[in-house]
Amino acid sequence: MTHTAHEGVVDALPASVRDDFPIFATRSGPYLDNAATTHKPRVVLDAVIDYYTTANSNVGRAYHELGRLSTDVYEEARASVQEALGARHPEEVVFTAGTTDAVNTVADGIGRRLLGPGRAVLVSGMEHNSNLLPWRRLAEETGARLLVAPVDARGRVDVVAFTALLGPEVRLVAISHVSNVLGTVNPVAELIDAAHRHGALVLVDGAQAVPHRAVDVRALDADFYCFSAHKVYGPMGTGVLYGKRELLDELRPPRVGGGTVKGVHAARPVRHVPVPARLEAGTPNVAGAVGLAAALRYLDGLGREAVRAHDEHLVRYAVRRLSERPGVRVIGAPEDEPSGIVSFVVEGVHPYDVGGHLDARGIAVRCGVHCASTFLDDLGLLGTVRASFAVYNTESDVDAVVEALDTVRPDFWTTDHPTTRFL
Ligand code: ALA
Repeated sequence: MTHTAHEGVVDALPASVRDDFPIFATRSGPYLDNAATTHKPRVVLDAVIDYYTTANSNVGRAYHELGRLSTDVYEEARASVQEALGARHPEEVVFTAGTTDAVNTVADGIGRRLLGPGRAVLVSGMEHNSNLLPWRRLAEETGARLLVAPVDARGRVDVVAFTALLGPEVRLVAISHVSNVLGTVNPVAELIDAAHRHGALVLVDGAQAVPHRAVDVRALDADFYCFSAHKVYGPMGTGVLYGKRELLDELRPPRVGGGTVKGVHAARPVRHVPVPARLEAGTPNVAGAVGLAAALRYLDGLGREAVRAHDEHLVRYAVRRLSERPGVRVIGAPEDEPSGIVSFVVEGVHPYDVGGHLDARGIAVRCGVHCASTFLDDLGLLGTVRASFAVYNTESDVDAVVEALDTVRPDFWTTDHPTTRFL
């Protein structure tokens, strides 16, 4: 525990957490692009190497010792995710390539059956392209309508407007738990309850929630809940689709192939194995799942409440310090219920120029539209500068941003791309 200099409160995590992350041995600048991907602690890297050096073998099909061992560690990883999400059964956890893959799996697997002319899918105005484009394409291809619930002035889905859009036409709802642009937290339990009262199924994109808060899918009563391992200190290329067992049973597999069938005979219908294997055709990313389980254990070791308090503190500190600066405007109200992200603009300066200026000082942020250009259009912004926090960040990282902004002035730039957008 360390006392912070600026706020007079106690940090929830010790600064030595940074030593758990090998990348900081060679990269010392503030890394504030954690909403894009987090760095990996040594225990995650070790778990991946250990898997490949002691167990590597295919799962669910090899009739030998290493095959059984590999299957066991894969299924243990699934049980770790089940426990972390509060799911009823391990079978409700499907390993995917990431959140994008999970959303597409549901859109293709059940959306195509539920939607058609006279029906609608409801998303919110803040969705990341990965939770917008699968539904948009589905609506275009099935003749269904795509409805968009507006976002209120504080940057959360407007519950009244959302509820007013529900009706017999709406069969599916897809919403973010936490905005990847603003870091604002949607009242997902309330939104899910309203959708269920109108007979719609709900998918929640939890990619920006799981790194910062404990999620209980049963308490939320989410029908589907997705997240990515790499944003929660785990490996890239691995994600999770949680689904209620009876709904996963109904999903048309996104891919067919090895590991999904009981037997294939030329003249007889194919008989599939139960979920989750039915939805995981081909060789799964076992090392990714093992790494994710190690990441979840790592977070448990730090203490979920401590992680949440740490991330909340940094958001509040960043909002206060940025708001003190003339010409800097924080977008939305991330301080209402902080969740690791703060987005801001510097009046008169292109967000890309701010990002480049910070990069020149060794500070990594994301700038632009954050894969959510329709939301940025609604906000009337070209883009924002986004600082996103992880367990290894400290107040000094925020201080570095604020100090670097001292030398960002509109008259400093000869911007030749004032209206150009960058992803
Ligand atoms: N979805 C990631 C982000 O928002 C890449 O930055």
